[in-house]
Amino acid sequence: MKVLVTDPISDESKQILTDADIKVEDASGEKSSSKLDLSDIDGWIVRSGTTVTAENIEQAENLRVIGRAGVGVDNIDIHAATMNGVLVMNTPDANTISATEHTVALILALARNVHEGYHSMIHGKWEREKLIGTELRNKTIGVVGLGKIGTEVIKRLHPFKINVLGFDPYINKNNYELDYVEIVELDNLCKKSDIITIHVPKTDSTVGLFDLDRLKMMKPTAQIVNCARGGIINEDALLVALNDGIISGAALDVFESEPVTDSPLVKANNILFTPHLGASTVEAKQGVSTAVCEQVRDYLVNETIGNALNLHISDMDLLKSLEPYLKLAEQLGTLHQQIASGPVDSVSISTAGTLKEINVITLAFLKGFLNEIHGSTVNYINASAVAESTGIQIEETYSHKKIDYSNLIITTVSLNGESLTIWGSLFGEALPRIIFFDGFHLDLNPVGQFLLIYNKDVPGVVGKVGTLLGEINVNIAGYQLGRKEKSDIAIGLIRVDSDPSPELIEKIASLDEVISAKFIALE
Ligand code: NAD
Ligand code: MLT
Repeated sequence: MKVLVTDPISDESKQILTDADIKVEDASGEKSSSKLDLSDIDGWIVRSGTTVTAENIEQAENLRVIGRAGVGVDNIDIHAATMNGVLVMNTPDANTISATEHTVALILALARNVHEGYHSMIHGKWEREKLIGTELRNKTIGVVGLGKIGTEVIKRLHPFKINVLGFDPYINKNNYELDYVEIVELDNLCKKSDIITIHVPKTDSTVGLFDLDRLKMMKPTAQIVNCARGGIINEDALLVALNDGIISGAALDVFESEPVTDSPLVKANNILFTPHLGASTVEAKQGVSTAVCEQVRDYLVNETIGNALNLHISDMDLLKSLEPYLKLAEQLGTLHQQIASGPVDSVSISTAGTLKEINVITLAFLKGFLNEIHGSTVNYINASAVAESTGIQIEETYSHKKIDYSNLIITTVSLNGESLTIWGSLFGEALPRIIFFDGFHLDLNPVGQFLLIYNKDVPGVVGKVGTLLGEINVNIAGYQLGRKEKSDIAIGLIRVDSDPSPELIEKIASLDEVISAKFIALE
């Protein structure tokens, strides 16, 4: 296996991969991802310096995992990765403290004009009167985003005897761990804060969150710090706000476009820049490098998943323990797809009895169902997204009803106004069985080759079909017969030892009594 690394990570961490017999190709000096050979890589490790595009992901046909050494994944096309069944993982904790300390450093430096003092001294000036700062004591800080870094920043600033306002629409006021934080709406936070610090991810709803209108809500003496992601403060608006005295200062570690070579913000009043140094500490670099290499190794070698962003299964032990049920659900999906005679409108899956993990059962069913049409490219990562993109409506439920089996998977596929329902169950937690098929109860191990025949419920059909199979030496290993509920149509599932030719299937289908005949192969 091969892992491509396109941003700097520590040498010790690369050893984690090579020790597991994974070849590491270090292209961290390469500036453009269009020049990379992606054709045979299994894994790709990046930090924020590489943009992973949909085109890159399409080119990397063997790619199974993208590991982000760090938090922000706005440089990775996660949708494209999901659609291609590529796992995306990050290392959410390893640089929290470094980013926190950098934020605190910027807040203090800004309050005490450290940047301006340095700048003026290297130009031969001594401007003590001009560079009067402010204490943090008794001031109000507004923290936007109360996740890991926002919370750690608050904990470090609290001892300065500062008041803290917080805004985070996803945090429950009553459950937030720091009871001294007053959680308020964003407009209110903007109006009351002396310092605002931003700790939200870059998403559609946070890009431009601080535009000119919002900056105008701030006090003229207030300052703003962004150590999260560039673009959350609109840079054009910030330039106007600083130069027109709408606010009094800003510190930025992150920028709309990085690396920054020529920014109009250089001409802004009282601005402090650092070149995305939030996670640039010995500890964070080592931490994210080790974490990402271990996670990528574990996924490639053992399919163990840590910190996945596009697979909503967290407990891999649970997944392992469900393996025989997942296999059965997948077989049910394959069976339905082989029977379906056109594009499917909807799929309904429900489980009952001891089998409560409906979400993963649904994914396994969809994997089996869609792989028949997408050539084994569908996995647990992209199954839902691929189904959605083909317009299939999916319904999943766990039923609390009492059942005659210890566990049950009920699957219904509908198209053109008709539905087919098949039930599966695992006997003794080990033996997969199809126990209900389109209205009749049966007991079928869903492995091997079958002929599925719908015929008029009249005498002699079994004999005629058996004779035709016998003529070309196709041995019958089992014959299960039943009647479609409330009808005069019979269903036969014939287990055969070898593949009947398409001509033979046609011959069977053309018998007067036969309505349809189909060959089915299940692994
Ligand atoms: P986190 O996921 O722990 O916290 C983010 C918080 O933002 C969450 O609580 C979430 O509810 C909140 N949030 C989401 N949308 C919001 C919105 N519209 N308004 C208010 N709150 C919102 O993430 P984290 O580890 O604390 O990282 C925060 C940011 O810092 C990320 O953008 C990350 O990429 C960035 N980061 C930067 C550096 C650096 O080097 N400068 C280092 C690490 C992390
Ligand atoms: C992160 O999101 O982890 C930081 O911005 C650091 C980085 O980009 O490497």
